[in-house]
Amino acid sequence: MPESKKTSYISGFYKLSIEERVEKLKEFADLTDEEIALLKKFGALDIEIADRMIENVVGTMPLPLGIATNFIINGEEYLVPMAVEETSVVAAASNAAKMCRSKGGLFAYATEPIMIGQIQLVNVKDPYGAKVAIYGEKEKILEIANEQDPILVKLGGGAKDIEVRVIESITGPMVITHLLVNTLDAMGANAVNTMAEAVAPYIEKITGGRVYLRIISNLAIHRLVRVRTVVSKEAVGGEDVVDGIVEAYSFAAADPFRAATHNKGIMNGVDAVVIATGNDWRAVEAGAHSYASITGRYLPLSTWEKNEDGDLVGTLEMPMPVGIIGGATKVHPMAKLSLKILRIKTARQLAEIIGAVGLAQNLAALRALATEGIQRGHMSLHAKNIAIMAGATGDLIDKVAEIMVKERKIRIDRAKEILEELTKKQ
Ligand code: MEV
Repeated sequence: MPESKKTSYISGFYKLSIEERVEKLKEFADLTDEEIALLKKFGALDIEIADRMIENVVGTMPLPLGIATNFIINGEEYLVPMAVEETSVVAAASNAAKMCRSKGGLFAYATEPIMIGQIQLVNVKDPYGAKVAIYGEKEKILEIANEQDPILVKLGGGAKDIEVRVIESITGPMVITHLLVNTLDAMGANAVNTMAEAVAPYIEKITGGRVYLRIISNLAIHRLVRVRTVVSKEAVGGEDVVDGIVEAYSFAAADPFRAATHNKGIMNGVDAVVIATGNDWRAVEAGAHSYASITGRYLPLSTWEKNEDGDLVGTLEMPMPVGIIGGATKVHPMAKLSLKILRIKTARQLAEIIGAVGLAQNLAALRALATEGIQRGHMSLHAKNIAIMAGATGDLIDKVAEIMVKERKIRIDRAKEILEELTKKQ
């Protein structure tokens, strides 16, 4: 398929059989037969690989991998792999991405991938003097740090700068040095931690203090993704819906109880892609929520406004420490495949896609909440799960689910009854 003809707008993708969906994906992402075989393999992560990834392995824990359709991000069409256990997430993302197409999709910009390594210094009588002394030795500190990773430095990354702060704590003042490291296409925890450990003795030597912790900070304020989208009022369902979404945002901005759930909706999309690409979702989660409260109040990570034309304008800003080399990204076969499906060239591109999915996911949730509520959408998939639990297979799954949704009785006992009636008729 020529590159220009590729579109992620695949109407009725959800109605296709798994085989047909895989065929569409194969065409879109130029997958080989081997890669297709991997998709179909139950438990694509071999136990031998799993055994090398973590300790005490006894098995694997598979999650469904779905494909979100309709995404245009920075003018490019994307089919987005999402690994998630929650019903409706993939459908909602695809739906919102479709609305975003009305004005050209989503636009995302990731900063340079700068991570922070912290070095904690205590037992200094003159913390402010120590702070300036550390700044005075910046070049030497960067040199020691960069000796740890010549390849990263050769490629243009490495330790670039330092920041030194004096903080008050219950055990007395501490001098905290931040090593700012450009980790390029890696998430970077290993590189940063190694560098932080390497410079610690020198910081002790300069100051006469004692270093304890030497570790990355997940509050990655220098590694952000910013996303913007404009959605026409027609695409979102009218000006009333635009107003409802703006009210929903306003609620989250005023109330941390709501902001937590608002951000959870963003993380539904973010985590699903982070997991599908083998990245560290705990790091992304920690960064997201600490960034949401950086002002001292927990705030939503996104904003929603109405512009002059009455259209909806959404933005999102959050740390996005994800990589495409190192960790599970290159070891887990499904992570490698997800990166191929996304045609990822750099970690910054991946950060931009993940941010865009987060904003779309948020839009889907707010739109549903501001209109019919989320339960209707959830119900049909929930009913299908109950039908399967009751023993339905093939066409019967949809039939049993449909009847339960119509009756508004989604229970296993009812599913069993319906199943029995339908099988008698057949
Ligand atoms: C459910 O997983 C996510 C929502 O609660 C998000 C939100 O309330 O914005 C629907």
